[in-house]
Amino acid sequence: MRIPDIIIAVDGYSSTGKSSFARLIAREFGFQYLDSGALYRGVTLFAIENGLISPDGTIDIPAMEAALETLDIHFEGAGDGSCTFMGDRCVEKDIRTLAVSGKVSPVAAMPQVREYVDRRLRLLGGKKRAVLDGRDIGTTVFPDAELKIFMTADVEVRAMRRMKEMQSKGENVRFEDVLHNLQERDYIDSHREVSPLAMAKDAIVLDNSRMTLDDQMVWLRNIMRKKFNLTDKD
Ligand code: DC
Repeated sequence: MRIPDIIIAVDGYSSTGKSSFARLIAREFGFQYLDSGALYRGVTLFAIENGLISPDGTIDIPAMEAALETLDIHFEGAGDGSCTFMGDRCVEKDIRTLAVSGKVSPVAAMPQVREYVDRRLRLLGGKKRAVLDGRDIGTTVFPDAELKIFMTADVEVRAMRRMKEMQSKGENVRFEDVLHNLQERDYIDSHREVSPLAMAKDAIVLDNSRMTLDDQMVWLRNIMRKKFNLTDKD
């Protein structure tokens, strides 16, 4: 199947497997993968390391605004193997720590930070043949994306997946706590003032509660065939 030069936006709830799916799409289609959450995490890491955010989450807004003028967070490496860099330092691991996860929400709620991330994503994705995952790609960052997918799954299924992922990293967590945290994050993501998680009018819903990654790829290829009039001979 000849894949057209398009932008694919993958949005949706937490722990629906957006990044695994987006990475697989990038690998199979030879697209660039852009992880918008990684940029929010990168800004948060910078804020923590430079004392721009207090332990209670209060942000030094003027200092943050000044830092964003020159902050260089970008991706290096092709396709799904890309890594997040801050200047010439690879921060891929540092941005996934609990310290960053615990502070990223207030940072991602700052309009100046959202503008910074949106600008970088548009710069990087503007060449087409890119797949981006996040919460507001199809609504705000690339409202003209040719294909928009909105991912959802039963909250209990998502909590179970998240619990297993955490347990595989050696974290001992209770199902009830993970479930509660997910429900809370769904609420915050959907109700924040700037760019809340919302489904674009022209997005296609993918409920993967009972689907494997392979099932999702089959689903996507079917959608692509119909939407772009592709045949397997294309
Ligand atoms: O997808 P993730 O967990 O790596 O995202 C990290 C945080 O960034 C998460 O709290 C939600 C926020 N985020 C956002 O507000 N908008 C996006 N497009 C992507 C992520």
